[in-house]
Amino acid sequence: MKKTMMLSAAFGVMSSVAMADMIELPAPQINEDVTLYQALQDRHAVRDFSKRPIDRQILSNILWVAYGVNREDGRRTIPTAKNEQDLAVYVTNSEGTFLYNATENALDKVLDQSLLPMFQTQDYMQNVPLVLIYVGSTAETNFAFMHAGSAYQNVDLYASTNNIGTVVRAWFDKKAVAEALKLPNNQQVLVSQAVGYEAE
Ligand SMILES: Cc1cc2nc3c(=O)[nH]c(=O)nc-3n(C[C@H](O)[C@H](O)[C@H](O)COP(=O)(O)O)c2cc1C
Repeated sequence: MKKTMMLSAAFGVMSSVAMADMIELPAPQINEDVTLYQALQDRHAVRDFSKRPIDRQILSNILWVAYGVNREDGRRTIPTAKNEQDLAVYVTNSEGTFLYNATENALDKVLDQSLLPMFQTQDYMQNVPLVLIYVGSTAETNFAFMHAGSAYQNVDLYASTNNIGTVVRAWFDKKAVAEALKLPNNQQVLVSQAVGYEAE
């Protein structure tokens, strides 16, 4: 039987009255029995998805591996230059569009609307139930793309050993997505990652 580890992800105290536009996520649960070697051996891009949605437990796990808080001082599962933690991870699914709030282990709603249609630039995307959108600074001297790469690789490695399919995607209109997210001028959409279950 697989062992799972319940992580006290937030290390913070969640308000007992959740904000209307904040969805509290279940604590992430990570399978401890999987080796890094297995995850690396199995990592691959998936381009044949079923429509099966990703539930909140799996979403919590995915977001924690991508960019969650893994230490009591608030540091993350990925390194960031000078620990600036200047990556942002947005989630879009049929429920709307959200910003991952790692400190609270929650989703902050940013749009009622789903942005999934904006990512349907390749046929296989029609079935994909969830897209992660990595956002960072536009400053020339920043490491935003590296931070996104660390996060999406973590998600790929989690996915490969947890029956989840993912593909990193740059083929979409980044400017249009940035506008839809109402990003300020000093932030840009870096890349996205489709997440779902592989078609049987
Ligand atoms: C930055 C980046 C952008 C990518 N953009 C797309 C994309 O828009 N559409 C797509 O189908 N795959 C995309 N991919 C996936 C690559 O095509 C895929 O990783 C590559 O073919 C190697 O396959 P593997 O991941 O199974 O090893 C992207 C990968 C990266 C790292």
